[in-house]
Amino acid sequence: MNIKHMIDFNDLSPEQWNEIYTLAKDIVKCPARYSAALRGKVMATLFYEPSIRTQMSFQTAMLRLGGSLIGFSDPKSSSVSKGETLRDTIKIISNYADIAVIRNPIEGAAYAASLYSRIPVINAGDGGHLHPTQTMTDMLTIGREKGRFEGMSIGLCGDLANGRTVHSLLKAFSRFKNNTFYLISTQSLRLPDYFKKIIAESDNKIIELNSLDECISELDILYMTRIQRERFASIEEYEAQSGIFVLTADKMSRAKKDLTVMHPLPKVDEIDPDVDDDERCRFFAQAENGLYVRMALILTLCESNPFKLTAQKYELPKERFCKNPRCISNHERYLPKLTKTTSDGEICAYCENLIK
Ligand code: CP
Repeated sequence: MNIKHMIDFNDLSPEQWNEIYTLAKDIVKCPARYSAALRGKVMATLFYEPSIRTQMSFQTAMLRLGGSLIGFSDPKSSSVSKGETLRDTIKIISNYADIAVIRNPIEGAAYAASLYSRIPVINAGDGGHLHPTQTMTDMLTIGREKGRFEGMSIGLCGDLANGRTVHSLLKAFSRFKNNTFYLISTQSLRLPDYFKKIIAESDNKIIELNSLDECISELDILYMTRIQRERFASIEEYEAQSGIFVLTADKMSRAKKDLTVMHPLPKVDEIDPDVDDDERCRFFAQAENGLYVRMALILTLCESNPFKLTAQKYELPKERFCKNPRCISNHERYLPKLTKTTSDGEICAYCENLIK
């Protein structure tokens, strides 16, 4: 398969995703077959932001494939704290590892790193932008639970403004049809227009709601999310948005018998602990699926890139375009001004905000 990096789920063609999905299902059935597949290979996990599931499932995945690990989970313990650029870090890591997994709080960081990397880069979450391997986890879970990706009513509830898992999942679903997405959030935490447009232009429908009660009995899947405290400017702004949507036993009593409740985790207070043991709650199984799909992705990328990649070279930009203060191009000043053309106009290639 010809795939260099994994930055955005939709970088994969449907056929490429189908190959990774099929491989993940085979790993579920027979993990022992893959236990020495990457012996001698090294993975670097560069986590500039906290994580349990993504970091540890990637690490476990590499170890279960017979490979080894290097990396950091706290940038303060690396030369990043001395002011090293992302470009220099990835150039160095390219000499030591065969594949790199990057989580960074700045939007577009993994894409920026991939421009200078000689090894495959996997985006493990870039600020509030994207989280493609969570999407793979979610798609494997939906496939195993429902056996289909079309003709469903899917509720997405909570912080739809900042929840990168929701953004990535909706982009992935734009390839399928006949789904209705109920977007349940406060006015302040509505899904950004860019992602709404992606769904509106697909063969799916979106309905925005203010409460779970309005749709709970309709849903085949309910995807709960936490309010992303770390993305708010102040604790007061966070507190004004938290505790509004809580999945309770009472709400579950009005849901379908075959509802599947998902959550990327960590959860805070949006799912009542009494509901955890309801067999329709599949978020712990979902986290386990993340291990298998990440094994499939690592294997695919390492097999696609047996030799070092050629790093790209860019001229310094003369002026800056992207106005998003959370975009990596406004943090790492050497980055070239790269854009993509969409039906709305030019968007930033790093964070996908419209260039105005
Ligand atoms: N779902 C998820 O990304 O969890 P972590 O932040 O623990 O990696």
